[in-house]
Amino acid sequence: MISSSIDVRSPKVAAATKIQVNNQSLISKQLFWKLFNRLAPGFKIKPENEQIIYSIFRYFLQLPDFNAYGIIKNNPSLDKGLLVYGDYGVGKSTLFDAVHEVGKLIVIRTQNTQLWFPRISTIHMLTRYYETQKNPTSNFKLESYYHGKLYLDDLGKEDKAYNREELIGKLLFERHRRKLKTFVTTNENPSAIAARYGNHIGDRLPEMFNIIKWEGKSWRE
Ligand SMILES: Nc1ncnc2c1ncn2[C@@H]1O[C@H](COP(=O)(O)OP(=O)(O)O)[C@@H](O)[C@H]1O
Ligand SMILES: [Mg+2]
Repeated sequence: MISSSIDVRSPKVAAATKIQVNNQSLISKQLFWKLFNRLAPGFKIKPENEQIIYSIFRYFLQLPDFNAYGIIKNNPSLDKGLLVYGDYGVGKSTLFDAVHEVGKLIVIRTQNTQLWFPRISTIHMLTRYYETQKNPTSNFKLESYYHGKLYLDDLGKEDKAYNREELIGKLLFERHRRKLKTFVTTNENPSAIAARYGNHIGDRLPEMFNIIKWEGKSWRE
């Protein structure tokens, strides 16, 4: 038997193994950067937003020191999702949409799914839910969002379903229970999220998400 304390593989093989996750090699910074610039050419990175943007990029590239700038105040972890909250118009949705597009292109080209996640806005999810109630042949099921990664845009902007049920609260609860990675952008701060969906959600936010506050001037002005 080979002693586990001695790595008998060549240094090259050992290094290559280290950067394997789920049997696929990590997407390189270079590839990510090239595709990001191609797909979001107008997206400006400035001194006031660069630390947040680079931390989010590093997270998606699965770099263990992704919080080197210290912008995540709760316990940072690559096993959690991301909750980005803050001022209107700073670029939260634009940034996640661009990462979503980069991830999609990489899957198409290389079958590497590291950066792949579906996206939906909470308002759109409610719209689809209502359509299903009216039209039984429509194929929307909340349960179909109970697996894999998911980017949920505009958390808190949606209405309660039929003025009573918090569909998105239910979704977040289930996704937390199943330890799924969720990416959220929202204008609501964590206390407002807790107040709306209840403490059973509020208490779970820090263990479910790397929480990032993004403040700044709106690009819409
Ligand atoms: N970094 C950026 N560079 C250039 N334009 C941007 C940038 N971030 C956002 N915008 C533009 O500003 C508008 C608002 O951005 P958005 O992502 O919707 O903000 P948020 O989701 O934070 O409310 C969009 O039209 C977007 O194209
Ligand atoms: Mg937005």
